[in-house]
Amino acid sequence: MHGVIARYRDRLPVTAATPVVSLGEGSTPLLAAPRLSDRLGVELYLKWEGANPTGSFKDRGMTVAMSKALEAGVAAVICASTGNTAASAAAYAARAGLQALVLQPHGAVTGAKVAQAGALGARVVQVRGSFDQALVAARTLDERGTHVLVNSLNPHRIEGQKTAAFEIVEELGGAPDVLALPYGGGGNVRAYARGFAEAAAGSPLLVAGEAAERATTLASAIRIAEPAHADEATRAVRESGGRVASLPDEEILQAWRDLAREEGVLCEPSSAAGLAALGRAELAPGARVVCVLTGHGLKDSETAARESAEPIVVDPDPDAIAEASS
Ligand code: F0G
Repeated sequence: MHGVIARYRDRLPVTAATPVVSLGEGSTPLLAAPRLSDRLGVELYLKWEGANPTGSFKDRGMTVAMSKALEAGVAAVICASTGNTAASAAAYAARAGLQALVLQPHGAVTGAKVAQAGALGARVVQVRGSFDQALVAARTLDERGTHVLVNSLNPHRIEGQKTAAFEIVEELGGAPDVLALPYGGGGNVRAYARGFAEAAAGSPLLVAGEAAERATTLASAIRIAEPAHADEATRAVRESGGRVASLPDEEILQAWRDLAREEGVLCEPSSAAGLAALGRAELAPGARVVCVLTGHGLKDSETAARESAEPIVVDPDPDAIAEASS
């Protein structure tokens, strides 16, 4: 069954009258991570959300938000975004036949994400200012009634995103002991907390990784100074018995490298904040831990290139190749 509405219709705010706008999101792999498990002394799994249609977890919420927008008869949607929400909104709006206006902080979104939203037909407007300022503007346009907001302040987004927790519970046969994930605006922390609560299979300790330097971090997807869901997200973490870890960029980058080189999973830097946060948590030996990898590494090819050795250029000569590679 393709798409989170098809798979979890009875647990989402849709009816038979809701036109389903889907790109086959969800049902993402839960990958065992044997080397990192050994290193951390736990049983670690990676929830690979980069496998979603536009390359990030945002698609789970966007299918619900866009379906409800179409049902409500709106003509245009709007979001402020560090890049992934914009790409997802662009794709689902195209699928729905709606207009998408996406606001991005100028100079702070990766090239791939800017191109992705544009290629999908969104109107991309870059704001001279921060993500937080762009979000204020988007909310104002939503209030004026010209556009419907599809940021995670739209409750349908959180509803869709909670389905990742359902998938984990089904695949593991219960909730994990620990769930680790990045913390930007906090919508996804809320979504997982709700998903596990609704699955009624036990609640994991939530370990959330935020950038210590929120306003300037190189993990551009989570460059958010004022998390919109701060109160609810930090409460959910506290009530779970877990913690928020504030991470220097170097720790996030090291976790990003480890995921790529030890497990073969290239996520974007922000997505590695969950693993970096696990590095700071006290984990019971043998605990079953799921780390959510929120977005695909190709979303930030600039960082990937910067962190890699320059390719060696040689003539198509076997001896030259052998010499260059030794
Ligand atoms: N990981 C990635 C790859 C993201 O793009 C985001 C948020 C997060 C984690 C944080 O999730 O905000 O629910 O705590 N990206 C938003 C965007 C801000 O515009 O794409 P959160």
